[in-house]
Amino acid sequence: MAEEKLNVHLIDHPLIQHKLTLMRQKTTGTKDFRELLEEISMLMAYEITRNFPLKDVEIETPVAKCKGKMLAGKKVGVVPILRAGLGMLGGVVNMIPAARVGHVGLYRDPETLKPVEYYCKLPSDVAERMLIVVDPMLATGGSSSAALTLLKEKGAKSITLMCLVAAPEGIRLVNEEHPDVPIYVAAVDDHLNEKGYIVPGLGDAGDRIFGTL
Ligand code: PRP
Ligand code: URA
Repeated sequence: MAEEKLNVHLIDHPLIQHKLTLMRQKTTGTKDFRELLEEISMLMAYEITRNFPLKDVEIETPVAKCKGKMLAGKKVGVVPILRAGLGMLGGVVNMIPAARVGHVGLYRDPETLKPVEYYCKLPSDVAERMLIVVDPMLATGGSSSAALTLLKEKGAKSITLMCLVAAPEGIRLVNEEHPDVPIYVAAVDDHLNEKGYIVPGLGDAGDRIFGTL
């Protein structure tokens, strides 16, 4: 990547990097690809939630009364961008089981590379929740940016974007159009090819997750 400063948080934990390398390999089949994505999503959720606020609570163990800590901040909503975002949902919800889930359906037109919206269903209290939008691929950034715009139109005020692999072009677009949204990624790749695929990337994430190659 060039010297340019992109506003993105890189989660480069060794377990994540190892698993991502396995995912990138073209010989990795659907079952392993899906499992690895879920495992990485759990690890990324763990890192993203690292600074969540806590409050003191009084509890009683079977042995004695004591003080404990519990989450004190906004409730969480997870929003996968269909279809490939579904591959990251299970991992995040494993870590944050009480999270509500919204869905935004977008596909990228293969000719224009522009996002086309086809579905949106969100929790009714979206304005009060801290939303984590998940999509494995941030390529041109068109799909993620459109999803963030849609969520804000529906009232969302606090959003984090979590992607597996990003191209600099996509980070730049989301930074420009949504400077308030922190982006977390496991890798920033080199560039986009003429078909809008991330290079080296991992191919079409949705097709690899669902076996529709
Ligand atoms: C993929 C991916 C992102 C989008 C990224 O979805 O999951 O949503 O492309 O590209 P962009 O940053 O250039 O918009 P796709 O449109 O292939 O749909 P799918 O999830 O149904 O496979
Ligand atoms: N969508 C994908 O699934 N992969 C890419 O490389 C780009 C967009």
